[in-house]
Amino acid sequence: MEYKTLNDGNVMPMEGFGVYRVTDKAECEKAVYQAIQAGYRLLDTAAIYGNEDALGNAVRKAISDGLVTRDQLFITSKIFPTDMMSYESATTAIDASLSKSGLDYFDLYLLHQPFGDYFSAWRALEDAKKDGKLRSIGVSNFYPNLLANFCETVDTKPAVNQIETHPWYVRSQDLGEARRYGVAVEAWGPLGGTRYHADDSDVLQSISKKYNKTPSQIVLRWNIERGVIIIPKSVHKERILQNIDIWDFSLTKDEVEMINTLDTNGIATCTRRNDPEMVRMIFQMGKKNNQ
Ligand SMILES: NC(=O)c1ccc[n+]([C@@H]2O[C@H](COP(=O)([O-])OP(=O)(O)OC[C@H]3O[C@@H](n4cnc5c(N)ncnc54)[C@H](OP(=O)(O)O)[C@@H]3O)[C@@H](O)[C@H]2O)c1
Repeated sequence: MEYKTLNDGNVMPMEGFGVYRVTDKAECEKAVYQAIQAGYRLLDTAAIYGNEDALGNAVRKAISDGLVTRDQLFITSKIFPTDMMSYESATTAIDASLSKSGLDYFDLYLLHQPFGDYFSAWRALEDAKKDGKLRSIGVSNFYPNLLANFCETVDTKPAVNQIETHPWYVRSQDLGEARRYGVAVEAWGPLGGTRYHADDSDVLQSISKKYNKTPSQIVLRWNIERGVIIIPKSVHKERILQNIDIWDFSLTKDEVEMINTLDTNGIATCTRRNDPEMVRMIFQMGKKNNQ
């Protein structure tokens, strides 16, 4: 495992475990526990996933079973735009995330989307960081222009921008802008999510044979070679183990470039955040969740 030092001095594992769409609590607890057993130390949830509590239960069980200590873990959650309407609503949401997870602090807390009054919400995150409730704070799904505007405006630069990026959505400009502002990039959907399948690619198949790895492992390693943090999700033990078994090889520059040619510029991505329908859908999702 490698680690990245963030712009606030905190240290974050380069690979972690995500739990988006793992809505069944027992399944989430089991998967997170298995992930900790397998060696994952970075865990990624969000208020909108509805599983901050299950993740917290798995963490407590892993600690009480002696697998890990709290300070060896790096736990992330995120605030949803419907809670980013004001400084006060954001403060309430941070406390709710902490209370649901049963944790004293999050290692990283992100503005989930660049919607709502995200500047007021950011001030709430900055204050929660000062109070020790959040160790690092960051953003997610900020396009390069939004990230530049944000970094030019706020006092505390985000430590991380979590964005969708995989070989089918390479996003070199996003990486360049993040580098310019000292923001670490973290990939969601690092395997291509549910839309893209590494096994279908001849390029990935041929590279995978050379290293005796699976095409999915090549995809995960590709982001690591670019300095991008990854948080693959799986509810299957063999895949949880497979996805973290990527630290004994590295890709050549030529192989990284060959994989870059798979880029579709996100044609089939769900990141249509410049689409007004998507914005309205996100607010509806948040309101339903808060009912
Ligand atoms: N900030 C955001 O807006 C945002 C959005 C989406 C996700 N995220 C975060 O990023 C994490 C990862 O993204 P994601 O869950 O969308 O996508 P992902 O990790 O790229 O892909 C997950 C999918 O790949 C399958 N899979 C896992 N390992 C595999 C393997 N070795 N071979 C083949 N298939 C495999 C999983 O199925 P099984 O589970 O059945 O194995 C699941 O269908 C999320 O869990 C969440 O924490 C953040």
